[in-house]
Amino acid sequence: MHSTPDSSPRDSWGSQAGFILAAVGSAVGLGNMWRFSYVASQGGGAAFVLLYLGLVAVIGIPLMTSEFVVGRLAQVSPVKALPLLGGRKWTPLGWMFVFAGLIILSYYSVIAGWTMRYAWEAVSSGLPKDTVAYFNDAATGLPAIGWHVAFMVITIFIVAGGIRRGIERAAVILMPVMFVILAGLAVYAFFLTGSREGYAFYLNPNLGAVFDPQIIGNAAGQAFFSLSLGMGALITFASYLKGRNNLAKEATIVALADFGVAFMAGLVVFPIVFTFGLQDQIGASGLGALFVSLPAGFASMGAAGKFVGAAFFIMLFFAALTSSISLLEVVVSAIVDSFGAARRAVAITMGTIITIIGVPSALSLDFLGAADALVGNFLLILGGFFTAIFVGYSVLDKADAELAIGLPSESMRKAWAFMVRYVAPPILLGVLYLLIAPTWQAIRTLVGLGN
Ligand code: PHE
Repeated sequence: MHSTPDSSPRDSWGSQAGFILAAVGSAVGLGNMWRFSYVASQGGGAAFVLLYLGLVAVIGIPLMTSEFVVGRLAQVSPVKALPLLGGRKWTPLGWMFVFAGLIILSYYSVIAGWTMRYAWEAVSSGLPKDTVAYFNDAATGLPAIGWHVAFMVITIFIVAGGIRRGIERAAVILMPVMFVILAGLAVYAFFLTGSREGYAFYLNPNLGAVFDPQIIGNAAGQAFFSLSLGMGALITFASYLKGRNNLAKEATIVALADFGVAFMAGLVVFPIVFTFGLQDQIGASGLGALFVSLPAGFASMGAAGKFVGAAFFIMLFFAALTSSISLLEVVVSAIVDSFGAARRAVAITMGTIITIIGVPSALSLDFLGAADALVGNFLLILGGFFTAIFVGYSVLDKADAELAIGLPSESMRKAWAFMVRYVAPPILLGVLYLLIAPTWQAIRTLVGLGN
């Protein structure tokens, strides 16, 4: 079923479980940890969670299935897969994916660098009490650049190792460890005195919020970012896939695992916040929830805090690393497959370029936030919209035949095609419309900071 490294010049996954873990690793990341719990609490708690789950079901899973199908069918990076299957006019979409990967990784690595620094500090000397001052010191400037570089070096090293020996091995080791730490933290948080209050705040349904357009836009952006959709990351991963598995089932597994981790992160964050009276800090900024308020909680826990804080940031670092390798792989595979260059050299070169692009984000939080709004939100939804058009209208027959290899049920494939053709495009267009104003604001911020 699987080709050996010798029989095929292109790398492939060692096992189906390895592929699934790598895809879960891509999806589970910084997006689940701070963005989900923060946005959920702002947008109606349980109502947001339900809305998010609905969007994952009707758009997320069908689009993830589509990305898997395109990748396995074409056996090549999206920049070649799209024109190969749908004609030359689709080439620009492939390069838009590469652009999105470059930019997202450039600032993602800065945040991941903070997690490394926090983990290091928690293990070595314990996190300091004045977490606001500590965050301000860590977030921007030379230390932030240093940790950003360190994180990129590790990411480059793993991607240079290839699919089976680099990315798959990292995911198979890091994801289970990450999951066990997170589950342990959720159990610990359950026994804190403020856990009930925290759960109540987190899960209190405010059903009116489901109809608030801004919250719908937030939930959709969050779904795309968290599921790694709209930039070809999962097309790229699936292009190293052999075999006859049911890709719709595997997309469902990945999406549910991603949701489960996001949900659990909320079960960790909110009890800590309410036990130690950190409510004011959490609404202040998305990043604040994680890097300002939580360490304050750890500092108040006494001896346990050192251990819990270290566990939390190590877990976060692992989650970020398995996502960043998927971002770099999109860029690397595009160059390797287009120009036949050697993986190791490409990983080092492109990784270095991305490290440099990330420097402005390590110098200014406004720049980082604007890059996230422009690329992490708007461009992913745009990429998802075009992916739906590509699969639903340009290559549907081929995609359907590929999906049928593992999913013989015609009615289920019909339901998938219906979602991709008629449900995803109009909803995504609506979301793009809602995002015009914030995106324009982000562009102005980026340009304003540039001169
Ligand atoms: N899904 C990742 C997270 O939640 C981020 C990511 C986005 C990774 C797009 C790859 C592609 O942190």
